[in-house]
Amino acid sequence: MSFDLVFFGGTGDLTWRKLMPALFQAFRHGKLPEGGRILAVARDEQTDEQYRAWLHERFKEVEGAKRPSDAEFERFAAQVFYRRMDLSQPEHYAKLKDWLGERSADTVVFYLATSPHLFTQICEQLGAAGLNHERVRVVLEKPLGHDLKSAQQINRVVRSVFDEAQAFRIDHYLGKPSVQNLMALRFGNAFFEPLWRRESIANIQITLAESLGVGTRGPFYDGTGALRDMIQNHALQLLTMLAMEPPASNDADAIRDEKLKVLRALKPFTPEAVARDVVRGQYRAGNLEGKAVPAYLDEGKVPADSRTETFVALRTEIQNWRWAGVPFYLRTGKRLAARDAQIVVNFRQVPHAIFPGKQRANRLIIKLQPEDGLELQLLAAKGSAHGELLAPVSLDLDFDKAFATNRVGAYERLLLDAIAGRLNLFVRSDEQEQAWRWVEPILDAWARDDEGPRPYTAGSWGPAAASALVARDGFTWPEEI
Ligand code: BG6
Repeated sequence: MSFDLVFFGGTGDLTWRKLMPALFQAFRHGKLPEGGRILAVARDEQTDEQYRAWLHERFKEVEGAKRPSDAEFERFAAQVFYRRMDLSQPEHYAKLKDWLGERSADTVVFYLATSPHLFTQICEQLGAAGLNHERVRVVLEKPLGHDLKSAQQINRVVRSVFDEAQAFRIDHYLGKPSVQNLMALRFGNAFFEPLWRRESIANIQITLAESLGVGTRGPFYDGTGALRDMIQNHALQLLTMLAMEPPASNDADAIRDEKLKVLRALKPFTPEAVARDVVRGQYRAGNLEGKAVPAYLDEGKVPADSRTETFVALRTEIQNWRWAGVPFYLRTGKRLAARDAQIVVNFRQVPHAIFPGKQRANRLIIKLQPEDGLELQLLAAKGSAHGELLAPVSLDLDFDKAFATNRVGAYERLLLDAIAGRLNLFVRSDEQEQAWRWVEPILDAWARDDEGPRPYTAGSWGPAAASALVARDGFTWPEEI
C-alpha cells in the first residue's frame, strides 16, 4: 500500500521529538508500508537535503536505543521530503496538490502538528484545493479547542470539509500499549467482567502523575492548565475505557458509542460540587530526586500572578446501573513525587469477616507507566499461629518483560493506524465535545472563585486537600496506604 504522509508543522517540536522518531521506529521494525513518502512542510525555505540534515541533528537527542545509526538514518531519510508553505496561501496548497499528484498514493494523511489556531484555516484550504477526497485522512493533534465552543467551531469546519471517518483526533494515551491492555483485560478475559461493577468495587482511582515541571512550555501551559491538558482528554479517556459496557464488536464506532455513553452518564458538576469535589493546586519550589526545583511562578515566561493549576484531583460518579454510587477519583499534576500513571481498582471487603485482625480488601493495580503491568493484591494465610492471620500478597505481571519484542510506542502505533485507516484508537468529535461539556462547569466555577489554586511543594503528592477528598469517603490514595 502506498501512502503520502504530510506533516504541517514540519519543523515543530512535536514533529521532531515524537512523530519522526516514531515513524523511524516503524521503519526499523519493518512496519512502515513500503512505497511511502513523508513530507514535512513549514515556513522556512530549505531543500530536502537541508531538512534531512537538520532532522539528523535533532535525532541525536532521541533516547539511546531508539536513535538510528547513520546508515539507518540515510535509508529512512530517503523517504523524507520538505516543502515551504505559507498556510494562508491557496497557491501553496495548489503546489502541494501537484506534488501529491505526481503519483496517486493509495492513502494521503495530513497530520496537523501545528498550533491549533491554524487547524480551521488548514482544513478549509485543503477543502478548497480539493485535497479532501476519499483517499485523504486528517490527523488532528491535541489540544482540540480551549473550551466547548472552540472545540465545536473546529469540529464544524473539519466536518464541512471531511467525513467523520476521515478525521483522526489524537489522544496519544490511547496508543499506549498499557492502555490498550485495559480493553484486553476487560473484554479478553472472562473473570474480571462479573466483578466489574458497583456490587464488587468500592472505588476507582486514576493517577497521572508527572515529576517534570512545565519546562520551556510556560506560555502554552499557562493558558491551558492541568484540567484542560490532562483531565479533559487523557484521564477521561481512561475512565471511559474502564467504565464502558462491553462493545458489540471491536469496530471503532461500536467502541466509541460505548465510551460516549459513559461521558454522558458522568455526574454533572454544580458550583457547590466543584467547591466540594475538585481540588486544584500549583507547585511551589521544592526538591525532586535530590535537586532543588523552582516554583511554577518562577518558570520561564509564566506571569508572576498566574492562577493556572498544575494539579487537579476530583471525585465523580457515573450515573448508571453498573456504577451508581461508586466514586471515581481522577488526579494529575506536574512536579509530583514520581512519574507514575496507574489505575487502582479497590474492591469491597468481604461481606462478613471471619479472620481476626485488620480488614483488608483486594486491589487491582493497572500500571500504565513507567512500568506496564498488572498487580492483583490478594489476601493469603500467613501461617502464623497467633494474631493477624491474613497478609496481602501480590500477583505481579510485567508486560514489558512478557512481550519484550513486540511493544510498539504510542505514536508509532497511532501513525500506523492513521495510515491504515483504523479509527479505534482515535477520539470521535461527539466524545470530545461531551468531555468539554463536562469539564466546563469546573472552569466556570474557578473563574468566579477568588481563592485560586492551593500551593503544594514540588516533590510531594499535591495539596493536602486531595487526601481529604478521598478520606472523606473513608479511602486513601495508593501512596498513603
Ligand atoms: C501531553 C500534555 O498531552 O501529555 C503534557 O500536554 C504531558 O503536558 C504529556 O506532559 C504526558 O504524556 P506522557 O505520555 O509522557 O505521559
